[in-house]
Amino acid sequence: MNCKELPMKFEEISEEEVSRMKVRSGRNSRLVRCTPGNVILPYRFLDLAKTVYNFEFRSDDIVVATFPKSGTVWTAELLWAMTHLDQLHTLDTDHISLRNFFIDRDMLFAPNKDDQSPLVKKFMEKFPEGRMEDGVVLQLAKAETGRRIIKTHLQFQFFNESLLNKSKVVYVARNPKDTCVSYYFFMGQRPGMVMEGGFPSMAEDFMAGKGNFSPYWGHIQQAWELRNHPNLHFMFYEDMKENIIEELQKLSDFLGLDLTFEQLKKVAEATSFDNMRRRDQNQPLVKGTFFRKGTIGDWKNMATPELDAQMDSWIAENTKNLGITFKYA
Ligand code: A3P
Repeated sequence: MNCKELPMKFEEISEEEVSRMKVRSGRNSRLVRCTPGNVILPYRFLDLAKTVYNFEFRSDDIVVATFPKSGTVWTAELLWAMTHLDQLHTLDTDHISLRNFFIDRDMLFAPNKDDQSPLVKKFMEKFPEGRMEDGVVLQLAKAETGRRIIKTHLQFQFFNESLLNKSKVVYVARNPKDTCVSYYFFMGQRPGMVMEGGFPSMAEDFMAGKGNFSPYWGHIQQAWELRNHPNLHFMFYEDMKENIIEELQKLSDFLGLDLTFEQLKKVAEATSFDNMRRRDQNQPLVKGTFFRKGTIGDWKNMATPELDAQMDSWIAENTKNLGITFKYA
């Protein structure tokens, strides 16, 4: 399955290989592997890959790029707050999914006109004759004339050069142990997931680079290597947890927003874990929650000493040439 127009190749992962994955979808289990990078994506991505690759980024776009479970929703929300200070009162009334464009949604959710989510309702209002198959979020994002905050777990290779040449990219990395724990609980609450064997099995798959958007290290590496690019800001979830004002200040500088200390404090408060979780309880982003614990070091409650030692050597092996250091507590 060669896509000539795209600088990448896709190969469907065999049913047999998918069935060996310990954590997999029971309903929509077809996956593709993309080279270079051996990136695993839902099969539906094949229908959207060209549109995604041809998506034109603009100079006022802010793109949040992450490996899943690294603080994506939090970061997008605080970027929205930083750029919409006069509209913070709408946080409690408007649905979170309407404040940014999560372009991966189009491959993660099957098109369904009966979907009652605010996003699909907005799509149906805007494009009554529209083809959901061509991407609900992609089409809404294209039609947006104001400043766009775009979220994606896709690696940069899936986009054209306008991503880094035009927009501002905020990449958030989270230590792999907590990322894996967060992914485990998130998958466990998704409808239709098959999970064999608990956290150790999840960790085994995670380290082997299995699961949507994996492998973890390839994701980190592509962004880490670009960390000095003028249009990319690399930040760590753990630093955000430790000192959000300092990280917001760096973001304000990166985006040229020139926010005052008081404004940064307002943003931090509006997007605190407790406030985001409270809003999610009233208007959930998806079934299940994106706001579980929001801490550093939860892996200590999950990994046995043996598994932890295994993860440590996997981390040491993968970071020795990268020179990246994570905080684990
Ligand atoms: P945990 O599962 O460890 O609690 P993503 O948005 O990329 O899916 O990441 C989800 C993780 O970010 C979850 O981690 C979630 O609790 C955490 N998170 C979400 N909002 C947060 C906030 N305002 N402050 C700190 N962590 C937050």
